[in-house]
Amino acid sequence: MTGSLRNRSFLKELDFTADELRSLLELSAKLKAEKHGGHEQQRLVGRNIALIFAKTSTRTRCAFEVAAHDQGAHVTTLSPDDSQLGHKESIKDTARVLGRMFDGIEYRGFAQADIETLGRYAGVPVWNGLTTEWHPTQMLADVLTMSEHTTKPLAEISFCYLGDARNNTARSLLVTGAMLGMDVRLTAPQSFLPDAELERTATQLAAASGGRVHVGSDVELAVDGVDFLYTDVWVSMGEPAATWSDRVEQLLPYQVNAGVVAATANPDVAFMHCLPALHDRNTDLGDSLFRVTGLDAFEVTDDVFESPRSIVFDQAENRLHTIKAIMVATLAG
Ligand code: CP
Ligand code: NVA
Repeated sequence: MTGSLRNRSFLKELDFTADELRSLLELSAKLKAEKHGGHEQQRLVGRNIALIFAKTSTRTRCAFEVAAHDQGAHVTTLSPDDSQLGHKESIKDTARVLGRMFDGIEYRGFAQADIETLGRYAGVPVWNGLTTEWHPTQMLADVLTMSEHTTKPLAEISFCYLGDARNNTARSLLVTGAMLGMDVRLTAPQSFLPDAELERTATQLAAASGGRVHVGSDVELAVDGVDFLYTDVWVSMGEPAATWSDRVEQLLPYQVNAGVVAATANPDVAFMHCLPALHDRNTDLGDSLFRVTGLDAFEVTDDVFESPRSIVFDQAENRLHTIKAIMVATLAG
């Protein structure tokens, strides 16, 4: 049995045990069924939630807002443009102010150290909506989505992440998969692989959970037999736009395309992406990159993104149910 998660923050995956992550997944599935069944119970009536976005967001912001409204809570959304945060007031001072007014605080920003400071001084639960290092709320949605698309127990699921394997999503997938006893693989050019310390941590976690970790640059080896292929944008928020040309050159062999799907040798392999994705020219960025590179897709080709094997919108929906579970568990659990 897992104890209550009340008053706990979720700053990174390692803040929770594997059992606690599993209990959040169970609660997510329960809340999803309640909402879909039209019998959602409100557990956060009268609560006040602050959402801080120092970087842009569609899914995370909407998931927190809709989840809070569904549960009867009120939200206030702040960005550096419309608050004192960052330029006139430190994170530490902001934490002590918001902690006096709000019951919980979501933070999307840059350095993990910032959200750790927020968590230390706010005195209320703080949830990581993405930092340069981690994207933990995404992980719950991803694992819930995987479990919905297979009959296998978590410990028998394999997945491979391709692309910039040093970014927040890749680092979080590595740790989460290792904690939950999954077969987790990351493949990227050597200079885009996670640092040795993180790989060591993941290997130790996998040794304890019965999971498996593979980190390497050989795509065919990494994707062989996997249940899920996963990728993310090649240049993350906060990185210079000038990085794109070098990234395209280095990461193109790690693009998820029909060849990579075939290389899994799994006719049922599903495709995942945290989104937003550059899979066509229908964005300003996609179009401007096309003009420079001649490519009309980057981390994933449009045929894979739009194929029946793509479960990216199920993932996106599950951001709502899993973020709701985190708020319910830590505020009312
Ligand atoms: N996946 C994700 O975090 O999306 P947003 O950047 O739109 O929040
Ligand atoms: N790695 C991406 C994730 C976006 C949800 C970024 O940080 O921009």
